[in-house]
Order: sequence, then C-alpha cells, then structure tokens
Amino acid sequence: MPSLQMLVLFGSQTGTAQDAAERLGREARRRRFGCRVQELDSYAVANLIREPLVIFVCATTGQGDPPDNMKNFWRFIFRKNLPATSLCQLDFAVLGLGDSSYANLPSTFILQLFQDAPSTVPQESATSSLDSSQLPSESQPFLAPMVMNQRVTGPSHFQDVRLIEFDITGSGISFVAGDVVLIQPSNSAANVQQFCQVLGLDPDQWFTLQPREPGVSSPPGLPQPCSVWHLVTRYLDIASVPRRSFFELLACLSPHELEREKLLELSSATGQELLCEYCSRPRRTILEVLCDFPHSAGAIPPDYLLDLIPRIRPRAFSITSSLLVHPNRLQILMAVVQYQTRLREPRRGLCSSWLASLDPGQADPIRVPLWVRPGSLAFPESPDIPVIMVGPGTGVAPFRAAIQERVAQGQTRNFLFFGCRWRDQDFYWKAEWQDLEKRGCLTLVTAFSREQEQKVYVQHRLQELGPLVWELLDCHGAYFYLAGNAKSMPADITEVLMSIFQEHGGLSGPDAATYLARLQRTLHFQAETWA
Ligand code: 2AM
Repeated sequence: MPSLQMLVLFGSQTGTAQDAAERLGREARRRRFGCRVQELDSYAVANLIREPLVIFVCATTGQGDPPDNMKNFWRFIFRKNLPATSLCQLDFAVLGLGDSSYANLPSTFILQLFQDAPSTVPQESATSSLDSSQLPSESQPFLAPMVMNQRVTGPSHFQDVRLIEFDITGSGISFVAGDVVLIQPSNSAANVQQFCQVLGLDPDQWFTLQPREPGVSSPPGLPQPCSVWHLVTRYLDIASVPRRSFFELLACLSPHELEREKLLELSSATGQELLCEYCSRPRRTILEVLCDFPHSAGAIPPDYLLDLIPRIRPRAFSITSSLLVHPNRLQILMAVVQYQTRLREPRRGLCSSWLASLDPGQADPIRVPLWVRPGSLAFPESPDIPVIMVGPGTGVAPFRAAIQERVAQGQTRNFLFFGCRWRDQDFYWKAEWQDLEKRGCLTLVTAFSREQEQKVYVQHRLQELGPLVWELLDCHGAYFYLAGNAKSMPADITEVLMSIFQEHGGLSGPDAATYLARLQRTLHFQAETWA
C-alpha cells in the first residue's frame, strides 16, 4: 500500500467536477499516492480529522446552490457547533487540477475477460454488493416493477409527457410530499449492441473486475462476475457527451496516427472551440464519437472502459403521488426529452427515453432501480396553514402529491396556480382538480398560454389575484411554493410577488425585498426548479 495517502472529495451536479476529481485521482495514483475519490455526501465527515491530505473539487448548481451530492456537507460546515479547532489541522486544497499528460497511465481496474458463463448467474444485486462506506444507505436501489406508463398529453401536443407508476410493495420505501425519487436508467439495447460492435467486444463474454490498488472501490452494485452486456447496459454512460479528458485518454490508447492527431487536437488547450463545435454544441455522444474514431475505439483495452467512460448517473424526479391516496405506489410525471441539434439524429434523454420505452404489460416487466430522498420542498403540518403553489407544466408534479396528502389529512386551504398551453392538450389531472374543487378542497387558477393572442402565464393570474395572495401570506401565514423550469419562470414569479408586496402591502421596494428574504428564511417561500 502506498505510504502517501490523499483523498479527493467532490461535489458535482452534472459530472464536470466529478470528471476533474477523477482526473486528479488518476494523476495522484500515477504519482504513487494512495488516492480515494469520493462524493462529498458519501463521506463520513467525522473522519476528516484523520485524513493527511484532502482536495475538495466542487461545482455549483442552480442559482449558486451546492450540488445535490454535497448538500449535507455544506450544511455541516455551517453548523454553529462545528468542531473548528480539529479541522484547523486539516491539510487541504480546493479545486486543484493535475496536468494533462496520460503517458504510462495505469488503468484503475483490472478487467479479466473469460468466455463461459458461470453455472449460477449472479443476479444484479440491489443491496448485497453495495459498499456501504461508499454511498449513503438511501442509494441502495429497489428494483420496482413499472405498472403504468401512460401518455398524458394530447396526440397533437409537441411534447410526450408520461404518468408513470411503480409498484413499491415490499420495498420499505416511504415518502412524503416534496420528496424525490432517483432512478437509475439503462442504455438501449440498440446502443449497447453498436457499442460492443465498434469496440469489438463480445456482449456475451463475462469478466471479473479488480481494483488495481487498495482504496479504490468497484462500481457499487456491479455483480461479480458480470457480463459485458450488463456492464455496458447498466454502467457505462455511452449516451453522454464526452468531456475533454475522454479525448485525452482515447488519444493515449489510439494506435492510429491520424485519429490520434485529431484526438490530441480536440483535447488540447487550443482545441477547445473545435471540441465545443464537434461535441458540446451538437450534443454528440460518446458512442457517436467512438463510431467516428473506429480504429481507436477498436483498440481500447477492456481494462480502461471504466476510466474512459463515466458511470450512468441516477436522475431525480419529483414524486407526484401520496402514499395516503396510492398506497404501495409511487408515481412520477415525466416529459420525454427529445430535441434536434444540427446532427441528423434527434437527441434523446437517456432516462426519459428508456422509461418511456418500457412496457408495463409485458409478461416479465423490466424492474427499475430506484430510491427516494428528501427534495427541496417541505409542506407545513398544521391544518390551518394555507399553501399557495405555482407549478406550470410538469412543475405541478410535487404539488399533486402535496394536495393529495393535505386533502387526505383534512387540510383544505390549497391554492394551485397551474399553467399549460392548451386545456385539451396538456392540462394534467383536469378531472382530479375539478373534483377537489367541487369538494371545497382546492382553489385552482389556470393560465392557458396559447388560447388567445397574447401569452397568459401563471404570474399574470398571480398578479390579478394580488390582494388575495397578499392576504394569505401576510394575515394567514401562508406558505408559497413554486416549481418548474428554471429558465425565466422563477425570476418572473419573484418579480410579480415583489410588486404584490408593494402594491397591496404598501411596502417600499427595499422593504418588499426584505419581506421576501424573510419568507425565504422562514421557509414560507420555497422553490424547486430544474433545467
Ligand atoms: P408557452 O410554452 O406557451 O410559452 C408549461 O410549460 C407552461 O408554462 C406553458 O403554458 C408555457 O407557455 C408556460 N411558460 C413558459 N415560460 C414561462 C414563464 N417564464 N413563466 C411562466 N410560465 C411560462
């Protein structure tokens, strides 16, 4: 075991910081450090005082928020009772990147291929092979059968939105309104086949995986031995857009002079515009790049697969049902991501396309690995407190769970602002809302953006009902929530709220800002937005 030890902790939302952290780890190992690379929130912070050297590699997300996988750590370092004196001893750096040379780089794993399948085929383990020191216990997935996959937008609507339901009987999973479900997607069979073909891999071959050094853990949940098909389907994110380090490493492995030159150019500091033009802008995938560099792809030693290709990351969805209304069930509302770039083939979201392709009616339905964790929305428990929820489009998802839960508990002061394009195309749960309105459990305010010449959005309705909104917030202690697309909606809603505080509350501009800040501080204003 190397005597020099180092720990790299990363907080990463989209994988960029993780990529940098892993590069750092590879460099450190090349320089004979024993180096672990770990997500911040999977690390037991109490152990920090025993670490000889720590490098933190962190990104931000949303509006300057910490990435999801370092939220606990972020809260921890702001604790009033933080044992600061002990952490003073820590030798650390924040975001340090190694050089870009990969010459003589050893792979992190030894992947030993063999032909015959074992007599008893190992099941993919939901729990058994998870290394509990690596991941918080909530990330032990339950393999849930999908029992509903229903398009909820009209046939002529531009977007395919699905209501998906999982059976979670026997999982022990419990959740409340505001929680999110993490789903671990798989690659499509067609992509797996093409990948194996271009790399010259036999999908039916089996392998065992060993870390080259102690302190490096295998991908959690990977069965041993494992088939190539399983590894590629479940672990390798071949549909993601490759990062610069992918080109660096592929160049080192390439035996083909022309291809190697091009790969080096794409990974060089001066080739960044070229890389952006070739990859980032058109969202070209790892699989497509490998097809463009067939000689290099065909020469990738299997040992390097896990160094070269990032792991498929789980995707988070707001849970849209309550256990009080749908026991043993978990529902999500999901837009199937598909868009066009200058490439001929449309770009497709890995997780949403995979889920949309699954057939719950199939005799032996594919089970979907999932687990639950708290989201950023929390609803008041007292029955007297009104809630105002603003959720255009699929932003309404967490509010359906909240309304179901609150109504089941006798909380009837629910105000929902819902916006969509057309009432007959993308008005989710129209009948359900109407029924709740009839029962006096819901006040629904709608904005159909495209049914008239001028766009009408939820914030226009909010403005019209300014006196009511002010009264609910100021006299009745209402909680205000917004959820949905992060692009411009959150800023638009906040602006309207500020004008309501001034117009109907008689506050000055600065006082309105202070009022909003107080609402945020006391959790009377909460938002969950996504890109
Ligand atoms: P549009 O697509 O017609 O512009 C759900 O996507 C609904 O949110 C749609 O009706 C959409 O309208 C609307 N929407 C788009 N941008 C918005 C914004 N900035 N604020 C509120 N609603 C918005």
